[in-house]
Amino acid sequence: MIQEAALWIKQNKLIAFPTETVYGLGANALSYKAVAQIFAAKGRPSDNPLIVHIGDNSQLDKLVKTIPANASKLMAAFWPGALTLILEAKEAIAENVTAGLSTVGVRMPSHPVALKLLQECGLPVAAPSANVSGRPSPTTAAHVIADLDGKIDGIVDGGATGIGLESTVLDVSKPTPMLYRPGGVSVEEIEAVIGKVDIDPALETADSAPKSPGMKYTHYAPNAEVILVDSDDTIHHLVAEAKKEGRKVAVFATTGTADYKADIVRRGESLEHTAHILYGVLRDFDEQGADIIYVKTVPTEGVGRAIMNRLEKAAGGKRV
Ligand code: TXA
Ligand code: MG
Repeated sequence: MIQEAALWIKQNKLIAFPTETVYGLGANALSYKAVAQIFAAKGRPSDNPLIVHIGDNSQLDKLVKTIPANASKLMAAFWPGALTLILEAKEAIAENVTAGLSTVGVRMPSHPVALKLLQECGLPVAAPSANVSGRPSPTTAAHVIADLDGKIDGIVDGGATGIGLESTVLDVSKPTPMLYRPGGVSVEEIEAVIGKVDIDPALETADSAPKSPGMKYTHYAPNAEVILVDSDDTIHHLVAEAKKEGRKVAVFATTGTADYKADIVRRGESLEHTAHILYGVLRDFDEQGADIIYVKTVPTEGVGRAIMNRLEKAAGGKRV
């Protein structure tokens, strides 16, 4: 199955495949036409650049102009893995991959199926998350089919993804690297290798434009209204109010064991487990017809920073 998928990538077809973060929708990063199909299938705005996936460090030469010392250290520490590095791009990459920017995001995924596919086709593969733009990212093949059936050429089913949230995006083309998107590799882990990094101010306040084009869209959102809540007492109160109004109420209890009187309750057992199930839980709540979703907030340490970033987007900033 992987060999056939690799052949199809070489034939400029669109193939969804599992990575350790979320499912990706892959196409030959050297072909403008192949990459254009990704934007069409997802309904993705053309100003939002794609991450290029590689199965082998030797491919870097074709893709990027220089590899700063910080970048080499991070590759040695975290590749293959959930870290995307933004570097100065070379011309060989199709221009729609970078959305006209002078930089390109590159990562080597650690999922054995993804690695095998990349090594087998021997091409750099552009791959965003394999969801319709604006929907939660897919963590199973069923999620991909729900969003993209009929719009793609094939899917390699590798079961549920591990981490469940997208890769960390870090710009290492600057003297002091800057975090554009928190993800599977934490800021704490990165700083242990290269020292202090900058954080894109847009991640902490709503009033500046994000450096990573994709971060400006209302992402990761289910159809139901999502509200982030800091305390269990407040959740109990809000659940009771919403039920009085006849609404179907869901609670995602990211921590703790409180007994919520909601129609649907899902629980995360740890930060890692919460990340792993987050997108699937949001999709399930929609399928079950929830009108409103209350989510207990988590501390922004480790993978908690990425969880809160995605939750804030899903909630459109609504927090009580
Ligand atoms: O875990 C992941 O990263 C998954 C799997 C499939 O690898 N991919 C993924 O891709 O999440 P996507 O397209 O959904 O998100 C890529 C993010 C977007 O926010 C995009 O704007 C940003 O990376 N990005 C890509 N290239 C960039 C560049 N040159 N400069 C700034 N941001 C960039
Ligand atoms: Mg995405």
